[in-house]
Amino acid sequence: MKVKETLLVPVLCLFTLFTGMCPVKPDEIYIKSGEMVALHCDHESHNVTWSSYTTQGKTQSSSLSSSEQNRMGILIHRSSFIILNASVIHQGNYSCSLGNTIIKSFRLAVYSARFGEYKEGTEYPVTCYMHESCTLTCPGNYIPDGNIPNITSNGIIWQKGDGRRVSVEEHYSLSCVHDRDQGVYICTRSYLYQGQIYNMTSTRKLTVKPEEPEQSPVILFPRDKDVFYVDLGSPLEVNCTADQCSEFDSVYWLSVDENKNSRVFFYATEENTSGQKLRMTASLVFKKVLEEDLFKNFSCKLDSTTQKSSVVTITLARKARRSYVPLAVSIVVTVLTMALTVVIYIKYKISLTLFIRDTLGCHRSISDGKSYDGYLMCYKSDTDAGLNTSERKWLEDVLEDRFGYNLCLNDRDVLPGQAIAETVLDCVEQSRTVILVPTSPDPGLESGLLTAIHEALVERQTRLVLIRTEATEGVRSGSLGEVLHLLSNVGHCVTWKGKDSEPLSSSFWKQLRYYLPPAQHSQKIHLLPQTV
Ligand SMILES: *[C@@H]1O[C@H](CO)[C@@H](O)[C@H](O)[C@H]1NC(C)=O
Ligand SMILES: *[C@@H]1O[C@H](CO)[C@@H](O)[C@H](O)[C@H]1NC(C)=O
Ligand SMILES: *[C@@H]1O[C@H](CO)[C@@H](O)[C@H](O)[C@H]1NC(C)=O
Ligand SMILES: *[C@@H]1O[C@H](CO)[C@@H](O)[C@H](O)[C@H]1NC(C)=O
Ligand SMILES: *[C@@H]1O[C@H](CO)[C@@H](O)[C@H](O)[C@H]1NC(C)=O
Ligand SMILES: *[C@@H]1O[C@H](CO)[C@@H](O)[C@H](O)[C@H]1NC(C)=O
Ligand SMILES: *[C@@H]1O[C@H](CO)[C@@H](O)[C@H](O)[C@H]1NC(C)=O
Ligand SMILES: *[C@@H]1O[C@H](CO)[C@@H](O)[C@H](O)[C@H]1NC(C)=O
Repeated sequence: MKVKETLLVPVLCLFTLFTGMCPVKPDEIYIKSGEMVALHCDHESHNVTWSSYTTQGKTQSSSLSSSEQNRMGILIHRSSFIILNASVIHQGNYSCSLGNTIIKSFRLAVYSARFGEYKEGTEYPVTCYMHESCTLTCPGNYIPDGNIPNITSNGIIWQKGDGRRVSVEEHYSLSCVHDRDQGVYICTRSYLYQGQIYNMTSTRKLTVKPEEPEQSPVILFPRDKDVFYVDLGSPLEVNCTADQCSEFDSVYWLSVDENKNSRVFFYATEENTSGQKLRMTASLVFKKVLEEDLFKNFSCKLDSTTQKSSVVTITLARKARRSYVPLAVSIVVTVLTMALTVVIYIKYKISLTLFIRDTLGCHRSISDGKSYDGYLMCYKSDTDAGLNTSERKWLEDVLEDRFGYNLCLNDRDVLPGQAIAETVLDCVEQSRTVILVPTSPDPGLESGLLTAIHEALVERQTRLVLIRTEATEGVRSGSLGEVLHLLSNVGHCVTWKGKDSEPLSSSFWKQLRYYLPPAQHSQKIHLLPQTV
């Protein structure tokens, strides 16, 4: 069979060499027995000749009368050759020719099958996606032309493979495809000829695939319906970007000029991205945004041969005027809060510090090598307003017993027999603070000694608390006055108001404690006379 075939083709070609052309490859047609098929010559001429080569022998259409055609169950009209009721006897080769030239040839195979069955390869495959619409079209080749007399179309019926009727239209549309829709569909075209109905069936095989993966947006920026906020009168540039897939791709702004002299125009640029792609940009430029631009849509379009062409539309909107009221309010509130904090701090600084010291027991243990918290030193008050002996004693007791300060006292810790000046300076050195107390009975301290103390304080940076009486405050005369003035510059002044200052809650005590460092509770060391 195969050998015969391969031989026949060159033989045919040789034969047609004289006719001028090699016959075209025949159309292979499989037809179910009992059905109709129409062969078309695709030639306008009415003079074509049909030849058939079947098991019955060779037949030329020119030799067939209309009654003979009827007997054979065929109908020849102009360039169409119609087999009304196909059976095995019609199986064979058919060709139409004009003169000696073969225009078209067919190979017809007839097979028997029940409804819904079909020969593998004769079905028309269709693929649709889940949940999408889908349309099946009844194939229209090998059907009789509408102009053939006495043949009238009797309609179309679509049936599923199980025989269920689904449509009587040429196109069967499913609005939303499901898995269950998958399968074989048969469309039957019926024709009426001389009182007889002749059928033609075609089989479509529908495959339902999962939903098509969403195509990634092809215009990368901007997104559709994006709003750009602008200040009227200011310039604006909006870049529309897309990646190029083929050299014919392009992006541009619809209905926007490319002329750079226009107020609104666009220009296109391209740049290579790291991903080996060419990134296309169409930059929409407003030299100056006008109010009218706010009422327009601006659309950027990607034209592509390989990817889905797409359009994004953007609009402009006026920038909302920024309100400075909340900002101003918050600044004012912050400033007020800070001012209030500062006022409160200044006003209650002393109470606050003492409170924290007392409650948190904030006793820093500084290892500064000093033995005393304070050196209580008396100086001669100019007036009678100084502290008298009992007041001084009371001051010492409260500081030591009530507040736990470790004091260096001249008449207790400085043993007699030592050089006064040397001892005093030793005491200053051993103390964290020097407290100068004006006393009215002469304690025997001279202003010269105070000057030495001033130098020592400045040198060693020892704290100084200068207790003054209301009466001494104004006095600034004499050498003592000068020294006191110098000392008051170095240290802090606390005013003794006599009886008013005695309660522990008085401002005198608050201030005094505030200026003194917290009590250290270190061991008391007596300055012993040096044995030389
Ligand atoms: C058809 O063929 C006949 C002779 O075979 C010829 O006289 C006639 O002109 C042809 N008609 C056409 C339309 O070619
Ligand atoms: C077609 O031919 C078969 C026998 O070959 C016959 O049974 C059938 O009725 C015919 N159909 C029509 C429509 O003529
Ligand atoms: C039809 O042509 C093919 C070769 O093209 C050949 O093998 C076959 O025998 C032919 N059939 C008939 C019925 O002549
Ligand atoms: C069409 O049918 C009518 C009567 O049924 C007949 O007279 C006429 O010859 C037919 N025409 C053709 C082309 O077969
Ligand atoms: C033609 O098709 C219709 C519908 O499928 C069917 O009812 C009828 O029996 C068929 N006729 C023939 C001759 O096959
Ligand atoms: C728009 O793109 C151009 C060219 O790529 C670039 O020079 C410009 O800075 C971009 N403008 C904005 C607003 O991104
Ligand atoms: C991008 O790179 C290619 C080669 O890699 C080069 O031919 C082309 O000119 C480049 N295009 C741009 C706009 O830089
Ligand atoms: C802009 O587009 C929206 C919808 O996309 C449409 O409703 C509106 O009429 C358009 N405006 C103009 C001025 O074209």
